[in-house]
Amino acid sequence: MELNIDGMNTKRILVLHGPNLNLLGTREPEIYGSLTLTAINDALRERAKELGADEINFLQSNFEGELVTAIQNARGRYDFILLNAAALTHYSVALRDAIAAIPVPVIEIHLSNIHKREEFRRKSVIAPVVMGQICGFGVDSYIAALEIAIRKLQRESK
Ligand code: DQA
Repeated sequence: MELNIDGMNTKRILVLHGPNLNLLGTREPEIYGSLTLTAINDALRERAKELGADEINFLQSNFEGELVTAIQNARGRYDFILLNAAALTHYSVALRDAIAAIPVPVIEIHLSNIHKREEFRRKSVIAPVVMGQICGFGVDSYIAALEIAIRKLQRESK
């Protein structure tokens, strides 16, 4: 656990969005809703401020390696990762190994309920190495994950 200059534990959050999430707003809105990725990030930024987070940063990438590098670089830099790995959820052993390799806790997020969709989406290869999974609540999946992350960090700092 990192300490800031006041000796308080820090609450620095990294939000990672995987492939095709840059198309939110126009991409299959009946499944993913009509909010754009920018709107989701704005809602998270606002909630993070209300909850007293020290920092929240965002990265969307369509490239597996870029997300792997972001996870590796989160070591010692962030206190929690909120990850919607999108399609990579279902097959990326590289992402799973990156998550397992770092001490930073990760919450897995999905806008849709992956368990009531096609068979191939029901399997998450990252689920065994994340702290927990929130899916099926649209933008509220992200908001709930943020609230849980901040609450956990607050409890740890007491
Ligand atoms: C998703 C679900 C995945 O199965 C899909 O490939 C996505 C988005 C979601 O947020 O519901 O791209 O992660």
